[in-house]
Amino acid sequence: MKVLAISGSLRQNSWNRKLLRLASKVLKKQGAEVEEFDLTPLPMYNGDIEAKGLPDSVISLRNAIKNADAVVIASPEYNGSMSSAIKNAVEWASRPPENVLRNKVYFVMGTGPGRSGARGMYAHLSAAIQTEGGWVVPSPKVLLPGVEQIISPEGELLDNSVSELLDQAMSKLLETAQRLSEREKAV
Ligand SMILES: Cc1cc2nc3c(=O)[nH]c(=O)nc-3n(C[C@H](O)[C@H](O)[C@H](O)COP(=O)(O)O)c2cc1C
Repeated sequence: MKVLAISGSLRQNSWNRKLLRLASKVLKKQGAEVEEFDLTPLPMYNGDIEAKGLPDSVISLRNAIKNADAVVIASPEYNGSMSSAIKNAVEWASRPPENVLRNKVYFVMGTGPGRSGARGMYAHLSAAIQTEGGWVVPSPKVLLPGVEQIISPEGELLDNSVSELLDQAMSKLLETAQRLSEREKAV
């Protein structure tokens, strides 16, 4: 299984990037191939740019999603919703000639130092992906408030229960992607 890993925070020292890398480690341990895609070079979606021809960074994003069996996203919550960086990626990925978000399996997770556990981000990002025909794994949820107690500044996991949660979550992602690919082959 090929999994694409995307951080919805552009910050190099982002907590969500650290969470994403912990999830990537788990996925590799479970036998998946993982590629991380950095959203930093992506321009804001603009129909004028699109009309002139897709920029290389957009083509790379679209190809990376297309070639993956599953996508894992770790995104912060901004203003009770998702970050503009991840929404922008969804916008570019959904455009013709092919909506590359369709019929893929996604795991959406999020964290931050606050108490919300990025639930607003989860609701809005899942809805956007589902609108475009993607399948979001509904459980278990990896929405972690108070990240400073869970991940060290160096990116090490400090909490064993979260380690178990990540194991379960990533195995659910791979299992769901496997089932979807078997179903597609059978049709
Ligand atoms: C523009 C902006 C809006 C934010 N809104 C929220 C919010 O609605 N809920 C929340 O829990 N944290 C909010 N935060 C705090 C972020 O969760 C926190 O900065 C987090 O560390 C960002 O993720 P990162 O470390 O992966 O970059 C906001 C931060 C910014 C910059």
